[in-house]
Amino acid sequence: MRIVKTIAEIRDIVGTWRKSGLSVGLVPTMGYLHEGHQSLIEKADAQNDKVIVSVFVNPMQFGENEDFDSYPRDIERDSAVCQKSGGDVIFNPEISEMYGEYFSSFVNMTTLPEGLCGKSRPVHFKGVCTVVSKLFNIVCPDRAYFGQKDAQQLAIIKRMVSDLNFNIEIIGCPIIREEDGLAKSSRNTYLDEEERKAAVVLSRSLSIGREIIENGEKDAEKVIHAIKEEILKEKLAKIDYVEIVDMDMLRPVKEINGSVLTAVAVYIGGTRLIDNFII
Ligand code: PAF
Repeated sequence: MRIVKTIAEIRDIVGTWRKSGLSVGLVPTMGYLHEGHQSLIEKADAQNDKVIVSVFVNPMQFGENEDFDSYPRDIERDSAVCQKSGGDVIFNPEISEMYGEYFSSFVNMTTLPEGLCGKSRPVHFKGVCTVVSKLFNIVCPDRAYFGQKDAQQLAIIKRMVSDLNFNIEIIGCPIIREEDGLAKSSRNTYLDEEERKAAVVLSRSLSIGREIIENGEKDAEKVIHAIKEEILKEKLAKIDYVEIVDMDMLRPVKEINGSVLTAVAVYIGGTRLIDNFII
């Protein structure tokens, strides 16, 4: 697996592919790749001639007291996962390559980043939009792949691409889960044995919410209440949010009509985990 560190080199590689008429898929990641990422790379491989996987722990999307320093990193392991999933090149720049000394331009957005995760992570989506825009401009892919687990991120990136006229197709891919239902996440590695068991409360509470909606409940507050009640049974869990929002602007709904996103963020011990479903 070829690991490329510079923007100039990745542009050269993509330029050569383009001259041969090849299509390019981009899978942006922060590394420590798991089966969720693997499914994105496999999909990109099926839909494109060439696949670039970016591995970059982006400091701009972490708040001051967040886990930038402790975020798991292992490029050897990522390289092996990438290879077996159909990736062609890993783009793994240093921070200085992405953010030069005088860096001062940002991509920001109103409304969509303000609720859900944006409430407790106020700088997060500005960092995500900025780095993803840079990756799009560096790689110029035909398609880019993002997981539905980060539903707010996916909605924001789709909006950004539409608002700013990036000529890139955004492909959202389903959540990949452990056997017991826990959504795959690089942050699951922070959980000790007891916390790992407790973490299943996210998917379990969401299943309860889904069932209530499927049985015809239209009152969002009632569904939210049932989800919270289930989470609070777990003593290691602390709720950040449980919300039901519309799919266009991610604003809380009172009545469940049409497509809605039900999303939760829960601290299990010191680890903040997220999960969701769309119905
Ligand atoms: O989802 C992630 O891993 C990151 O937010 C992303 C999209 C790679 C941007 O750093």
